[in-house]
Amino acid sequence: MNKLTVRDIDVRGKRVFLRADLNVPLDDGRITDDTRVRASLPTIRYLLERGAAVILASHLGRPKGKVNDALRLKPVADRLSQLLGRNVRMTGDALGPGVQVAIGKLRPGDLLLLENLRFHAEEEANDPGFAKALADMAEIYVDDAFGSAHRAHASTEGITHFLPSAAGLLLEQEVTALSNLLAKPPKPFHTIIGGAKVSGKLEVLEVLLARCQAVLVGGGMANTFLAAKGHAMGKSLVEPDQLVNAERIMSEARRKRVRLMLPTDLVIAAQIHPRSQRQVVPLNGVPKDWIVVDIGPQTVEAYTTHLAKARTIFWNGPMGIFEIAPFAEGTNAIANYVASRTAAGVITVVGGGDSVSAVDKLGLTKKMSHVSTGGGASLEFVEGKKLPGVEALPDR
Ligand code: 3PG
Repeated sequence: MNKLTVRDIDVRGKRVFLRADLNVPLDDGRITDDTRVRASLPTIRYLLERGAAVILASHLGRPKGKVNDALRLKPVADRLSQLLGRNVRMTGDALGPGVQVAIGKLRPGDLLLLENLRFHAEEEANDPGFAKALADMAEIYVDDAFGSAHRAHASTEGITHFLPSAAGLLLEQEVTALSNLLAKPPKPFHTIIGGAKVSGKLEVLEVLLARCQAVLVGGGMANTFLAAKGHAMGKSLVEPDQLVNAERIMSEARRKRVRLMLPTDLVIAAQIHPRSQRQVVPLNGVPKDWIVVDIGPQTVEAYTTHLAKARTIFWNGPMGIFEIAPFAEGTNAIANYVASRTAAGVITVVGGGDSVSAVDKLGLTKKMSHVSTGGGASLEFVEGKKLPGVEALPDR
């Protein structure tokens, strides 16, 4: 990466504003996947060990500029305290007199977590006054929030206009891994793409058709492709306005001689519920009141057999409703298979919040070449878009 990083600057004794992406999934105030918190630790530790006073900041969820008690960063402070083995203090707001007092007391090696930045509408508006107020807290800005790098917000872009800035270790690692995936992937390069909708993934599908030798489709988005081929999908999620795009992608794949694989069998359920009846059916076997919840075993077999040829694998999006255990078999089988290929020398990259959660749940994160903490950010990077949070950082 050609951007300045924390390793290029002297942080000793300095107050550092560290933007991380601590936007973790919560269920009733409990963190259900702490990948992003753990991924932020190396830069936090790096700065603290060098005697910087660290002002850590993040958004959580989409509170739309209003205080929302369900989106306070307290669960993140608690998890950080456990992981760092020290009490992580928090402010009650991201700005204001209380924050000033807390910052005035900071000593080298101290860590202070600010409350959710998005409680202020100015954060997402990239308001220069808000960015300057954040910058005034510190002497150096470090951006480690790769997951938010596709957002030009005050704490990811605006602040860089007011402080000497550098990338954190996670942001550097993400940009390097994803750049390598695009620049020099050993071939064959196969992608597995899933998740609920085609609509959010059209651009990435186009790009992947230009780069990959095979694209394997699963999850809700496969329903739209199958519907476009004339299969009845019962009550499953299908995007009628995307049928024409699905057809276009399929004909483009044929023209480019890219193997576009779709499920050949499906797991269906009467309801999206863990105790619902569940069945494996062929493509033409979805009754009108049933819902497709996973790819079937024959599809898993066909996909893994094909993936055995790949030397680079990129995976984005689950194969079904994996949050519900009886519907997670396809996603888990793909996760296990992809992880097993890393040891065989295959480059395995996972991007996108849900597939990352699936990999984490199975304890496979360390068995992949790279697991990106970015959902939207990793997709936009793969699409070849410039990420404002990365672009704003000075070149080395
Ligand atoms: C993410 O989860 O993709 C990032 O934290 C960005 O969140 P956002 O989509 O709410 O901007």
